[in-house]
Formats: sequence, C-alpha cells, structure tokens
Amino acid sequence: MVKVVAINGSYRDNGITDQTVEALARELRAAGAEVEIFLLRDYPVESCLNCRVCTQKPGAAPGECVRRDGMHALIDAIERADCYILASPTNCGSVTAVFQRLMERLAVYAYWPWGMNAPQYRKGKAPKKKALVISSCAAPGILGRWLFGTARQLRMTAKMIGAEVVGSLFTGMIAKDQYPTLPERVRPAIAALARRLV
Ligand SMILES: Cc1cc2nc3c(=O)[nH]c(=O)nc-3n(C[C@H](O)[C@H](O)[C@H](O)COP(=O)(O)O)c2cc1C
Repeated sequence: MVKVVAINGSYRDNGITDQTVEALARELRAAGAEVEIFLLRDYPVESCLNCRVCTQKPGAAPGECVRRDGMHALIDAIERADCYILASPTNCGSVTAVFQRLMERLAVYAYWPWGMNAPQYRKGKAPKKKALVISSCAAPGILGRWLFGTARQLRMTAKMIGAEVVGSLFTGMIAKDQYPTLPERVRPAIAALARRLV
C-alpha cells in the first residue's frame, strides 16, 4: 500500500489548507493509499538550536537531533512514506511560521560538518519520492505563485526530504470570506493531483 505523509502548516481548523489536504486525502484513500496527516499547529515541534549536531555524520539517513519532541516520530514517518503533501498558507509572503520551524528542523537531512562552507543534501543521490505542494493566498493564484516565497520554500522542503515535486496547487483570491469553502473550480485539479501521486 502506498504511504502518503501530509504536512499541513495552516493555523486554523477547516480553512482552505485543511479543506484542500482533506480533499486530497479522500481521493488518495479512495485510490487505496494510506494517508497520515501531521497538523503542525497541534504538533510538538520546537525551534532548531542551530547546533548542527545532526549535520556532522555523513550518510543518506537523517542525522540525530538533540531535541526530544515530535520531530523524531515525524522524521520516522517521512522516512517510511512513499510520497508527500506539503501544504502551507501564504502568510506575509512566506510559509507560516510553524512550517518554517519545521523546515529548520529538517537540517537533519543535511550533511554539513564544521569546516564545510555549505550543506549537502543527504538525499541528493537517492531515488526521488514524489511530492505535491499546496498553498493559498489573498492575491490571484498565478501572481502568488511567483510573487511570494511560499512555492520556493515548499519546493525546498521537498528537496530536503528527497522528493521531486510532481504537482502543485496555489489557490488564490481566497481571503475575502471569514469561513471560505474550497472553490468548485479547484476540485478537478485536486483529483488530477491525487492521480499524479499514486
Ligand atoms: C497574518 C496573515 C498574513 C497573510 N499574508 C498574505 C500575503 O502575504 N499574501 C497573500 O496573498 N495573502 C496573505 N494572507 C491571506 C492567506 O494566505 C489566506 O487567507 C490563506 O488562504 C489562509 O489559509 P487557511 O484558510 O488555511 O488559514 C495572509 C493572511 C494572514 C492572516
């Protein structure tokens, strides 16, 4: 059975990100996949300490973080998964702070010993897994995709964990209503994205 790990960086229940991830999960489960969703707003991820203990030893396996929180279970799930959904709203031109905090903790996926100028991706030579990247914004989607850092950050996250991005959804003009509902226009795109993943 194909295992999918979805990481959701939205702050609110049933916002557009939740609705998109849930809709994708329904499609994927209907296609026989197992989907595990990590809601970062409810999940214990402390900030990175920049100590780089996790980056010192070589190898394709993630390094060991000195912090004792939910990251160990999340990294295990990432390692066991076949593919990923990486989702965050666009806040202040970027992924949300909780998603950014996760990105910094993914330093375990870098080999960067003291004395080396820049990190190497541990999964650089490994066979690529598949990822979908999902965001939304007040601006029109096409603009948001290029204007903001979100798409680049989500792609960087995929690269860190050894995945190639096989599809993306950037739902724009979604911030007018207090309780937005997923626009009908994006439902076919969600079904198509699910097919690309499994
Ligand atoms: C603090 C904050 C900052 C935001 N910054 C941006 C922004 O820089 N550009 C933009 O187009 N939309 C911005 N938005 C709108 C959100 O991207 C939009 O409401 C998003 O769909 C919310 O996702 P959610 O429904 O999962 O919470 C911002 C919203 C908030 C609350």
